[in-house]
Amino acid sequence: MECFLHGCDYNPDQWLGRPEILAQDIEYMKEAGINEVTLGIFSWACYEREDGVYTFDWMDKIMDSMYENGIHVILATPSAGKPPWLVKKYPEVMRVREDRVRLQYGDRENQCNSSEIFREKVTKMDELLAQRYGNHPALIMWHVSNELYGVCHCKKCQQNFRLWLQHKYKTIDNLNIQYNGAFWSHIYNDWSELESPSTIGEQSLHALALDYQRFYSDLSIDLVNVEKEAIKKYCKDIPVTTNMHNLNCGINYSELAKVLDVTCWDSYPKWHCGRNEESDWEPAVDESFHYDFCRSLKKKPFYLMESTPSNTNWSDACKLKRPGMHMLSSMQAVASGSDSVQYFQWRKSRGASEKFHGAVIGHSGTNDTRVFQDVCEVGAKLEEIKKIQGAMTYSKVAIIYDWDNLRALEEQRSLKNNGKDFEYIIFEYYEALLKNYVSVDIISQCDDFSSYELIVAPVLYLFKPDTKKRITSYIETGGNFVMSAYSGLVNENDLAYESFPPYDLHQVFGVCAEETDVLCGDEDNKITYGGRSYRATYFCDLLRNQGATVLAEFEQDFYRGKPAVTKQTYGSGTAYYVASRMQEDFNYQFLSDVIDTHGIRRVLNCNYIEDVMVKERKKDGKKYLFIMNFSTKQRSVMVNDKEHILHGYECSIVTLPE
Ligand code: GLA
Ligand code: ZN
Repeated sequence: MECFLHGCDYNPDQWLGRPEILAQDIEYMKEAGINEVTLGIFSWACYEREDGVYTFDWMDKIMDSMYENGIHVILATPSAGKPPWLVKKYPEVMRVREDRVRLQYGDRENQCNSSEIFREKVTKMDELLAQRYGNHPALIMWHVSNELYGVCHCKKCQQNFRLWLQHKYKTIDNLNIQYNGAFWSHIYNDWSELESPSTIGEQSLHALALDYQRFYSDLSIDLVNVEKEAIKKYCKDIPVTTNMHNLNCGINYSELAKVLDVTCWDSYPKWHCGRNEESDWEPAVDESFHYDFCRSLKKKPFYLMESTPSNTNWSDACKLKRPGMHMLSSMQAVASGSDSVQYFQWRKSRGASEKFHGAVIGHSGTNDTRVFQDVCEVGAKLEEIKKIQGAMTYSKVAIIYDWDNLRALEEQRSLKNNGKDFEYIIFEYYEALLKNYVSVDIISQCDDFSSYELIVAPVLYLFKPDTKKRITSYIETGGNFVMSAYSGLVNENDLAYESFPPYDLHQVFGVCAEETDVLCGDEDNKITYGGRSYRATYFCDLLRNQGATVLAEFEQDFYRGKPAVTKQTYGSGTAYYVASRMQEDFNYQFLSDVIDTHGIRRVLNCNYIEDVMVKERKKDGKKYLFIMNFSTKQRSVMVNDKEHILHGYECSIVTLPE
């Protein structure tokens, strides 16, 4: 594609008896600069009204009319929504909950991913779609299913889980060792004794819980692969994707990305709901994290697959986007590496649960609305900046956000069981990096470290087999690494290392953690760093110093005088350790010092300007700086001695030589 996609989920199947509406849609799409629609996401019932009886002529007409009007199509496989006859005939396609109750027909994306009949029916459907539309000139991408999530606990899934365990552990004794089976008499004799966790059963075997999540993620990805293979059988050259949406949806996105040709994100930030009415910085950081994550999966541009042009209908408060926010939020996706701005949805449906969800065209059916105008403006903007399409993001800094690690942290019991803030601790470091105006990739612990000058690893509790070796050799060969408290405690099966944390890195960091204390509520400890006092909160590692330079010490409580922030040169790199959860002010200052000490390039060379986010993309010897003001108030930003005034919610794109 030589231009940005500006598109939307389009559900003409809800309007098939209304040709005048379909004709009107095309006119409005052209007016709004819509050059792509995603079709057929929930069309199973329209394609296959009865078992084995297929009707595609309605879609033929839509595909043709899109092509005739210069609108590209991303065609979905309809596996996320099932027709009622399927469940009536084959009740086993529905999921069984963790309490072992099978779901009845209803809702969507709740199939058992082991179900053979489901797989068979979906494969058949996908093959028919690929045969019929694989060469259609409107087609530019395949969209498998929709927002995968969740798990099933049926008997078939249990069987598959046991096979997965056998493949992983080979012998039952090996599993007993990794699961520490003698605890509470959990020594298994046979694979058939293993069952997935349940509120009416096993809740204490953290390694089992972790494995069930891994197994189900693998199974879901396998189903995506089955769909992809069915498509590729008849249509080899068109890229295949699925839309990611939630880091805690049960799918390991780093693994999912491996079977996709491109990655996509669905984005629904909570604009205008923060504590500060003048600032949308908080949701902007949150969204930025997800975009950077999605881009980092393949280290190339991704697609914003869904966003709302106005409001959602499922938030606590379904607020409208304030004037200016639609353009700004759309540009934020592009700034972060998206080659598209796409919406859920083109036209508001008349019935069922999403009838009041934002859409480009509302129930009035007219184009004389504020929302339509906003969408037109984004369409025009994407056309104006089309030379940026395909531009790359190059980051010298990465932060580790690792799916297995976070799943394990959620399962383990210690520290603060009713306030597990581990994910936020990672977000806090990410925010501090953003405020330092460096470009950041978000990676897993298995990703290649070699292209980064700085890697930040907050709460890396779980180490996979190679992790400590990879960290060591990264630092030894010149990398700079920041590790936080509560890192390196367990192996990939949540089995504690026979060592002080961080496991086998004591020489590298020059410290080890003998104990970890927890601070309650607002309680804090204090440290002085660079002449300023900062609050240490949540938890504190009680470090033994084994040769590191101490940059700050705890100043209170019985561990007063123990190291809180340390630094050690190892090989040609540097290892930093931060022994507590520090606040925004410290994270910003400390990372700023690390960035400066090691000469890491910032995309903008200045201190953080309140509410201003900056991202960079590069292409053909040029770099494009996206400077975004998430405040309602004016901001001034200097770029190479030139002042740029940004009005409230403005995004300014500055082109510079590389
Ligand atoms: C998700 C789904 C869409 C729609 C929107 C509503 O992103 O993929 O089908 O339900 O949410 O926000
Ligand atoms: Zn199942």
